[in-house]
This record gives sequence, C-alpha cells and structure tokens, in this order.
Amino acid sequence: MVGDLRGARFLVIGGSSGIGLAVAKQAFAEGARVHIASRSRAKLDKAVSEIGSGSVGRELDVTDDEAVDSFFAPEGEWDHVVVSAAETVSGPMRKQTMEDARKTMMSKFWGAYHVARSARISQQGSLCLVSGFRSFRPSANTVLQGAINAALEALARGLALELAPIRVNVVSPGLTATPMWSGMSEGDRGTMFGNAAKNLPAGRVGQPDDMANAVLFLAKTPFATGSTVLVDGGGTIA
Ligand SMILES: NC(=O)c1ccc[n+]([C@@H]2O[C@H](COP(=O)([O-])OP(=O)(O)OC[C@H]3O[C@@H](n4cnc5c(N)ncnc54)[C@H](OP(=O)(O)O)[C@@H]3O)[C@@H](O)[C@H]2O)c1
Repeated sequence: MVGDLRGARFLVIGGSSGIGLAVAKQAFAEGARVHIASRSRAKLDKAVSEIGSGSVGRELDVTDDEAVDSFFAPEGEWDHVVVSAAETVSGPMRKQTMEDARKTMMSKFWGAYHVARSARISQQGSLCLVSGFRSFRPSANTVLQGAINAALEALARGLALELAPIRVNVVSPGLTATPMWSGMSEGDRGTMFGNAAKNLPAGRVGQPDDMANAVLFLAKTPFATGSTVLVDGGGTIA
C-alpha cells in the first residue's frame, strides 16, 4: 500500500546512533522489517535492544570495498535504504592533513556512493542519503563537509534519473544533538547548542527525530524523488 511501511525491508546504514537510530526506531514502529548496519558490534547490539525485538544489527564498514560488496551480494531486494553513516574530520583546510581529508571523503561520500551502487532496491523502493546544510551555508571550519554534502546532493539528483523508478532523495540536517558531538565536553557542547539555538529561527537545535520524520516522509511519498529536504531550523537563511 502506498505510504505504508508495514512489512517493508528497511536498511539503515549508520543506524546504530543519532539520526540513523531515530530513523530505524520510527520505521520499526511503523511495522518495517528493520536492519541496521555500522562498524561497532557493541553499538549495534545496544541499538537493536532500543529499536525492538526482530530488528537486526549487522557489522559493516562502508569504507571497506570488499565488505560492502559481500554485504550486498547475497541479499535480496530492499524496499528502502538509508545511508546516514559517516565519520568526518572538520577544521580549517590548511590545518587538516590530506590523509584526514581523504578519509572524510571516503567515509561520507564514497561510502554512500558504494552503497548506492551495490544495494539492490525494489522498483517501488527508495534510497535516502543524509547530507548537511553546510552545502548551502558554508562555515570557515567545515569547508570539506560542505563540499561533500553538495556532492551527495548532486549524486542523488543524478541517481534519481539513472535508477528510476527507484526514488533517490536526500535529507539535509542542520545542527542536530546526536552522539556525533560527544567528543566535546558537556559544557562546551551545551554552550555551542545554546548559542546556535539563539541564532536559529526555530529557536532550538535539531533532534534526531526531526531528521527521521523527513526520511520517513520521503520513503512513504511515491512522488518524491531527486529532492533534497532541508531540516535545519532555518540555519541556511539565518
Ligand atoms: N549531528 C549533526 O549536527 C549533523 C549535522 C549535519 C549533518 N549531519 C550528518 O548526519 C549523518 C549522521 O550523523 P549523526 O549525527 O547521526 O552521527 P552519529 O550519531 O555519530 O552516527 C553516525 C553513525 O554512522 C556509523 N558509521 C560511522 N562510520 C561508519 C562507517 N565507515 N561504516 C559504517 N557505519 C559508520 C556509526 O556507527 P559505528 O561507529 O558503529 O560505525 C553511527 O551509527 C552524518 O552524515 C553527518 O555528517 C549531522
């Protein structure tokens, strides 16, 4: 049934944390058969226990070409695939090593590219990538992230043509309170979120469920393809 996730095979890569975990929980709550994938077995096990009984956690590193190929080769078709996996290094370009820059591109861009290339998705199904508002609104410390996000958005628009009728979309988050920021001290994080909230038209930072709502909207809307849905609290226009 259109817009119905009941029984759908739903894969969330990066589903063990943050935005991906929120997507997995919402899809599961709507009756999808949810698999999540990421590198850490411990994170996967914890996430599966939060998502619910019957969800499946599978180890996968999207930067490992052989692992991606062998993950998808024996698989049947997925109804919906979401790629939220990434580990990125930010900072001023001239202070970042080329090795870190390449690893960042490998993780967020080539990881999603390889999944898009390898995953078999049903003709009525969809692929959703996760970019970020820095593609529109650069900051001096996140130049590479902005470029990667723009590349993902362009990739999705092109794939929406190449893979049609499979639908391909992007959700572009603004600042979102997820474990991605857990490397900062609690105090610094609180200050950063507080300052950001003051400057955002929405008056707060994003929550993983805000992004998951948009991912599920795209999965359940058969007329949505080639779209980038910005969920940034107004960060792009502020
Ligand atoms: N949070 C924000 O403010 C924000 C803003 C704009 C855009 N975004 C984007 O949103 C996406 C999700 O971010 P998040 O905030 O939800 O981050 P998060 O909480 O750190 O989650 C990242 C997820 O990706 C997995 N992962 C990382 N590298 C992987 C790899 N090589 N292979 C497979 N899985 C991998 C992690 O699990 P393992 O460690 O187990 O692999 C984890 O499940 C990212 O693309 C991020 O750039 C986030």
